[in-house]
Amino acid sequence: MIQKLMRKLWEADTVLSVVFTLLYPIMRIFSPPEKLIKPYIRNGQVVADLGCATGYYALALADSVGPEGKVYAVDKNKKSIRVLEKKVEKGGYRNIEAYVSSAADLNFIKDRSVDFVFANTLL
Ligand SMILES: C[S@@+](CC[C@H](N)C(=O)[O-])C[C@H]1O[C@@H](n2cnc3c(N)ncnc32)[C@H](O)[C@@H]1O
Repeated sequence: MIQKLMRKLWEADTVLSVVFTLLYPIMRIFSPPEKLIKPYIRNGQVVADLGCATGYYALALADSVGPEGKVYAVDKNKKSIRVLEKKVEKGGYRNIEAYVSSAADLNFIKDRSVDFVFANTLL
């Protein structure tokens, strides 16, 4: 049981996801997500956030595109997406669709078309 837990903890994606989540409050001070995305995102746009993790940028993107827009938040790490889904529910976001998927497989995107692709530190 402990061995299984340790193995899971050290899966690269899980470690990365935990590290990023812990870093987010610090990142928010020095590099607020809104500042990075502001020049590119407009109200009503459809955006794909590839490798969204737990949504540091996806939530800011959703705020920027507004209720008429949409954010497809995509990450291959199921745990990260579950955390994001909780944030989406808690924050009452209706314009985020979160998917556990590889960035190479985006066939759930309507008309296979977005206005902007955001992919920060995607491997
Ligand atoms: C370093 S984190 C960056 C998270 C976020 N983009 C940010 O800037 O805060 C990279 C994320 O990309 C995801 N990822 C890496 N390669 C991926 C791929 N091919 N498809 C989907 N997600 C991927 C990982 O699971 C991880 O959550």
